[in-house]
Amino acid sequence: MEMDLEGRVVVVSGASEGIGRSIAEAFAREGAHVVLTSRRANRLQTAVDGIVGAGGKAVGIAADVTQASEVGALFRQIEEQFERIDVLVNNIGSVVAFDGFDQVSDDQWHESYDVNVMSSVRMLRAALPRLRQSDRGRVMFIGSLGAKQPTGVWPHYNATKAAMVNLSKSMSMQLAPEGINVNSISPGPIWTESWDREANQVADRESVSLEEAGELLVKKKAAKVPLGRIGTPADVAGLCLFLASPHANWITGTNIAVDGGMQRAAV
Ligand SMILES: NC(=O)c1ccc[n+]([C@@H]2O[C@H](COP(=O)([O-])OP(=O)(O)OC[C@H]3O[C@@H](n4cnc5c(N)ncnc54)[C@H](OP(=O)(O)O)[C@@H]3O)[C@@H](O)[C@H]2O)c1
Repeated sequence: MEMDLEGRVVVVSGASEGIGRSIAEAFAREGAHVVLTSRRANRLQTAVDGIVGAGGKAVGIAADVTQASEVGALFRQIEEQFERIDVLVNNIGSVVAFDGFDQVSDDQWHESYDVNVMSSVRMLRAALPRLRQSDRGRVMFIGSLGAKQPTGVWPHYNATKAAMVNLSKSMSMQLAPEGINVNSISPGPIWTESWDREANQVADRESVSLEEAGELLVKKKAAKVPLGRIGTPADVAGLCLFLASPHANWITGTNIAVDGGMQRAAV
């Protein structure tokens, strides 16, 4: 399927590893100019080098996108290099605290809102003037299965991801008259470095090695997936390409699950 992404300018947050990196690599393979951002410059550079080494076009700009001043500086640098932005992928997000409701403090709730909602609010606000210069502006929010189908685990994460999905819908309504399509994607369990902390907890609790703990986690989570395996970052990246392509011209304001069939609701 022809994606028509050659030369498109794509900004991906949280792009040095995990799902964001896979999204950045996928767009670069389609010939897009990709701007990758995350905090640690060395890891970011490794991701950029990987793309450029494979013949792709990518730049890395380090920023903590929970900080308004850093988002401002990030977009000033982007604007020096590009006259328009075609695609913004708001990918960063974090569980923040791997604890139960009783243990999560007010500060951690605020941090969760900052990482999972405010970072995307600021990124979108800063990107909008350049997105409006595009003839096919697209915005994607990476939510979570927990937004629509929470379990009792990590209420602070699920609630803020639900806010993000709701924000995506509002912005799709606001930006539709300007021809900018906005959608959210809700991944199910996907092994990335973000699982390391949870694996460490399992290793302590079960007195097993980190590797064994990782295997236990994957097995436990895969057992709940109708398609019988956990996801890969590339499973999400493929959908981002489609949503950025002309094949998705009439798709906006929707939330799409990439979860091997875990979402139970029929509609
Ligand atoms: N993995 C899953 O099972 C899963 C399931 C559902 C939804 N999701 C969602 O998918 C998204 C990506 O998850 P992931 O597992 O790929 O995450 P990850 O492996 O933890 O990667 C996070 C990325 O974001 C960057 N980052 C973190 N905080 C940042 C900040 N304040 N400013 C700028 N960059 C920041 C990290 O680099 P630095 O640390 O260097 O900044 C890294 O590049 C998240 O929104 C997550 O909630 C993941």
